[in-house]
Amino acid sequence: MKVLKTLQKVTERAGTIGAGGFLLAFVLALLWPARANVTQPIQFNHRKHVDAGLQCENCHERVSNSPWAGLPQVDICLTCHEQPITESREEEKIRDFAKRNEAIPWKQVNQLPTHVYFSHRTHAASKQIACAVCHGDMEKANAPPSAPLFKWTMTACMNCHEKQHATEDCNGCHR
Ligand code: HEC
Ligand code: HEC
Ligand code: HEC
Ligand code: HEC
Ligand code: HEC
Repeated sequence: MKVLKTLQKVTERAGTIGAGGFLLAFVLALLWPARANVTQPIQFNHRKHVDAGLQCENCHERVSNSPWAGLPQVDICLTCHEQPITESREEEKIRDFAKRNEAIPWKQVNQLPTHVYFSHRTHAASKQIACAVCHGDMEKANAPPSAPLFKWTMTACMNCHEKQHATEDCNGCHR
């Protein structure tokens, strides 16, 4: 009941703020999509795994032979985490997903619209562009990135394509 009363008070106050409050809500709604940061199902730590000697390709297995890098699933994690090796609750979650026979629902942070074609094989493998150029220092990430390093606008792609004489043809990227 107390909660309800507080809620009522808040609503009344919001009422008196009136047009200003509405405007604020409207502006917040506009800003929200850009600010809605991603939270991952497991607080994964890149730095600890790179320090343990893992290469990016050990987990992002498809990066040199397909358009996608791929986000690793339980089977890869279990090669080291079948038995506890830390006291972390986050580590326990891996085995919880495995027990329930569920995939880890990682959210993709860098995400292009479906009408744009991008290939990791071309950029990271053939052209040997370092992951860090587009994703920053993932080796040092202690927590999952909550937003991409770049907002992948058309200009973000074009800036490099102009410099490196890569395709600027509309159909090159829009297929
Ligand atoms: C032990 C496995 C593992 C290794 C090794 C690893 N990663 Fe990851 N990576 C993950 C997992 C799990 C996620 C999803 C959770 C997160 O974002 O931290 C991820 C997410 C990412 C993302 C964000 C992808 C998106 O959703 O847009 C990038 C970029 C990335 N990794 C780059 C790298 C790079 C570069 C390296 C090598 C320096 C590397 N990773 C090494 C497991 C790994
Ligand atoms: C030229 C820029 C560029 C380089 C270099 C690059 N990436 Fe990406 N990465 C992107 C873009 C753009 C996306 C979003 C792609 C999409 O939505 O189709 C992405 C998405 C990802 C994702 C999540 C989606 C997926 O493909 O599974 C991971 C993981 C990732 N990159 C890892 C890496 C790793 C590891 C390297 C280095 C071996 C790397 N990237 C090199 C630009 C780059
Ligand atoms: C090749 C072995 C290996 C693989 C594969 C591996 N890990 Fe780990 N992981 C480790 C080691 C070693 C540690 C302990 C690092 C430390 O405490 O310094 C660790 C620690 C952790 C922790 C505890 C981190 C913390 O903050 O204390 C989590 C959570 C974790 N790993 C998640 C994952 C996930 C998710 C995957 C699969 C995407 C994965 N690991 C794949 C070796 C591995
Ligand atoms: C850091 C530089 C860089 C960035 C950033 C970059 N590219 Fe590229 N891209 C290249 C280079 C270099 C080539 C290869 C040029 C050649 O050899 O023809 C290329 C080639 C391509 C090709 C043609 C080859 C293929 O794989 O089909 C496409 C499509 C493409 N890029 C899409 C994108 C998109 C979409 C983005 C933004 C999300 C992007 N690129 C960002 C450097 C970059
Ligand atoms: C190097 C890759 C690349 C090339 C070349 C390219 N685009 Fe794009 N384009 C993109 C990316 C990436 C986006 C998505 C931007 C975003 O989501 O903000 C985009 C978005 C667009 C959109 C907006 C669609 C929407 O979702 O609202 C239009 C229109 C467009 N491009 C037209 C063109 C035209 C016309 C050309 C040729 C002159 C061209 N593009 C060449 C990468 C490219």
